Amino acid sequence: MSDRETWASRLGFLLAAIGSAVGLGNIWQFPFKTATNGGAVFLVFYLVAVLLIGFPAMLAEFIIGRRTNRNAVDAFGELGFKQWRVVGGLGVFTGFWILSYYNVVGGWVMRYILGSATGAYFGNSAEYFGAIASGPEAVVGQALFLLICVGIVAVGVEDGIEKATKVMVPSIVLLMIGMAAWVTTLEGAGAGYSYFLSPDFSTLAANAGDLIPFAVGQAFFTLSLGMAAMITYSSYIGDDESLPVDGGIIVVTNTLVGVLAGLVVFPILFAINVSPDTSGPSAIFVAMASAFPQLPGGRLLGVVFFGVVLIAAISSAISLLEVTVSYGVDNTSYSRVSLAAMLGVVLFVLGFPSAWDLAWFGWFDTLAYKLFLPLSVLLILVFVGWVLSSNAVAELRQGTGGLRAFGPTWLWMVRTVVILGVLLTLVLGLQTLFLAEDPAIIPPI
Ligand code: PHE
Repeated sequence: MSDRETWASRLGFLLAAIGSAVGLGNIWQFPFKTATNGGAVFLVFYLVAVLLIGFPAMLAEFIIGRRTNRNAVDAFGELGFKQWRVVGGLGVFTGFWILSYYNVVGGWVMRYILGSATGAYFGNSAEYFGAIASGPEAVVGQALFLLICVGIVAVGVEDGIEKATKVMVPSIVLLMIGMAAWVTTLEGAGAGYSYFLSPDFSTLAANAGDLIPFAVGQAFFTLSLGMAAMITYSSYIGDDESLPVDGGIIVVTNTLVGVLAGLVVFPILFAINVSPDTSGPSAIFVAMASAFPQLPGGRLLGVVFFGVVLIAAISSAISLLEVTVSYGVDNTSYSRVSLAAMLGVVLFVLGFPSAWDLAWFGWFDTLAYKLFLPLSVLLILVFVGWVLSSNAVAELRQGTGGLRAFGPTWLWMVRTVVILGVLLTLVLGLQTLFLAEDPAIIPPI
């Protein structure tokens, strides 16, 4: 344990955790999930899910990580509950599963930077997406993206992850603010703002059953929960830090970036008359790519936009990779460098079906959202809320100074609202996986 790394500074941890949270989930997925789920109404559900479920769940992961200073699997053993190591294992597995297709999207983004610079998609953006999103081109993109991430993780926590995210996170936030400001000058942008920001409350109740699983799943994904990432990152922090304050900073920043992405994407789409609710993962690529050719300085804008997305994607992907690497570093005699390389190869193979065929991509994503993520978070919550219970509150109190009432309130929340919300999400998800007319669990062979 003595050679285990730690963050060089509190800011280093915060930026790395924000870098993990802010990613494709905010910029690529959040706008299209908002669009396919009815616009501003979804935003309401999502914000509630982040606050009531995501934030307390993040603290649960922090507690496990910091109390033990171990990787996400051994942390449970270290706490004295060896049987619960399987929960850590599920988190590591879920992260790995998600990373396999996350890399594919990372590859698309790299391709779009190139396409923006050369204007390759300016003729027909839907056709361009179709040509690069699956098959050999996507496989190459996936491999290149993976290579970058493996390189950073191989260098280590302090020199690799911490240094990289220190530059990345502030640049993402600044560039997004810049783009959001520029978008206000577009003619016709107003309709985009009202689509995104003024919910039609009359549809709220009727859609709750559909929206809850999406909103909660999105909250987990975007906050990097249920994938052992936050357990791993918080295992490198000291006892003198306030977990609620750090968690609050991460949650708020992450939500702001998601909202900023909406403030960039929707006004642009409305300004050029493109419908935002073309469903599916292509939406943001096709829609944004049809915007740039019509805008002044479109090529440069495209490079900047997709450049920001790429930075955000890398800082998230490295956190997922670090989860497994840190387990290997703690448990095997392999070096960090060889572990990162070996895992890179495994990820490439696991992600291959998603890169080859979008149907597989959708299947991987559906299983992650409807099964692995909610199940993993649920088990963590049960563990922290009912098994660790008062020890968890004691850990939460470390480094907070005051905030005496916060711990018990948090525990009460976890045992009631949070667990019930996640359980509901899981049940609704399982229904579509197994009981629907066309059960989503069946792979697209
Ligand atoms: N939170 C990241 C995003 O929004 C994705 C991610 C999930 C990263 C899990 C790390 C762990 O894109």
